[in-house]
Amino acid sequence: MELTFLLLSLAPLVLPLVISIFAFKYSSRSAKNLPPGSLGWPIFGETLEFLFGKPKEFVFHRMKKYSSDIFKTKILGEETVVMCGPDGHKYLFTNEQKLFTVFRTHSMQKLFLSDEASAPIEITREAESKIIRSPGFLKPEALVRYLGKMDSIIQQKMQAYWEGKDEVKVFPFAKTLTLSLACRFFLGSDDPERIARLVSNFDDVTLGMHSIPLNFPGTTFYRANKAAAAIREELRLVISEKRAIMAEGAQVQDVLCHMILATDPSGKHIAEAEIAGMMMGLLVAGYSTVATAMTFFMKYVGQRPDIYAKILAEQTEIATAKKAGEVLDWNDIQKMKYSWNVVYEVMRLTPPIQGTFREALTDVTYAGYTIPKGWKIYWTVSTTNKNPKYFPDPEKLDPSRHEDGKAFPPFTFVPFGAGPRMCPGKEYARLAILTFVHNVVKRYKWEVVFPEEKIVGDMMPSPEKGLPIRLQSH
Ligand code: HEM
Repeated sequence: MELTFLLLSLAPLVLPLVISIFAFKYSSRSAKNLPPGSLGWPIFGETLEFLFGKPKEFVFHRMKKYSSDIFKTKILGEETVVMCGPDGHKYLFTNEQKLFTVFRTHSMQKLFLSDEASAPIEITREAESKIIRSPGFLKPEALVRYLGKMDSIIQQKMQAYWEGKDEVKVFPFAKTLTLSLACRFFLGSDDPERIARLVSNFDDVTLGMHSIPLNFPGTTFYRANKAAAAIREELRLVISEKRAIMAEGAQVQDVLCHMILATDPSGKHIAEAEIAGMMMGLLVAGYSTVATAMTFFMKYVGQRPDIYAKILAEQTEIATAKKAGEVLDWNDIQKMKYSWNVVYEVMRLTPPIQGTFREALTDVTYAGYTIPKGWKIYWTVSTTNKNPKYFPDPEKLDPSRHEDGKAFPPFTFVPFGAGPRMCPGKEYARLAILTFVHNVVKRYKWEVVFPEEKIVGDMMPSPEKGLPIRLQSH
């Protein structure tokens, strides 16, 4: 009663204030030369079109309608500009931390960082990025140690899941395989039950990362939130197991043990909740992306016997130079040039990650328009990777586009991003995918069961039926 009275009596004072704040915001916005485009509906903006239309078409349509350099929109709760084309990519990637900083969507912030029961996360994205990029984590010198084990895990999994079968589904296999690799090298864990539990939880988190953060039963975000909590719980368990064996003096070499020993810029060890958050980020970033690339490799190459034959020739040469039972080494990977060009083409046709967000640190002028401080910037591979200006006959899988000396203009093909924030897992992904390619072509020929199988989930593409293939052993 008292509160109602208070509110009513304050209304004449508060209302004009609220209106003038809005008016000020609006007038200062219109005083700026904002990029063309539409902010869409109140609150939702153009989020629904962005999430449920094809992202490529969302971008293409607006580039045509407004500008091929930059347009504004409102997505996932944020006023955003989309910077397009190689020039947009270059400007964004070369001004990292000068004009732009990284931004995670609200759903990502909640899924990765929030843990109501624990202390607030203090580590900044910058500090996190430095830790992940420091030696000992994902750099080639650390990865060399993983390679032999990676090869033998892939061989064991193929033996266990595919040997003697006529028909198999690629996508579920690729997910289990990549999560097994990630658990081994990031967490130092081989426990199959733990991996099976994590697969379904990671799938839910991956879907939730680009959802609207509405947290009630039935929503994608609600499921993702529950899955994220379960993963954090599991990771806490792994961390305490790891601390215990490290305390006993065991020699362990995985990303988690480096993280436990690492310090932040102020010299403090990283808190458990923060380690769990970072490990979750690494696992999410490194799991479905690699599985997607492997899956679409099987899809496209399964329909191109000419390309398959060339990959087989390259891989057979590598295999025959090895002794029986000898695993792949770093030199072998460097010889897989043609195979990697094919993988690049696969990623150009179906990019595992569409793009990511930044935030403007100051008012930025680009292509004659102002990007106001605090606005978000979205960059996406979709503005270049199928543009016939850079990739003639863009739907054709043509590995020769990636041959030395034939390069397309800089910043037109950026599946891993570029500049200081380029994917830190690129080398790891290359090793995992090429080791998979080596083993699969060495053992099998395959035929895609449904060449026209629908691709769903454009932010994170996947074949609707899991990509069934018919296998034929050599
Ligand atoms: C085919 C596989 C992969 C693709 C296509 C891919 C692509 C990308 C892209 C486009 C970004 C965003 C860069 C930016 O914002 O400018 C990124 C960031 C990131 N990736 Fe990857 N990635 C892959 C695999 C991996 C793997 C295997 C790991 C982990 C080992 C990983 C860890 C990360 C992390 C931690 C970030 C965030 C970096 C930061 O914001 O500082 N990625 N990746």
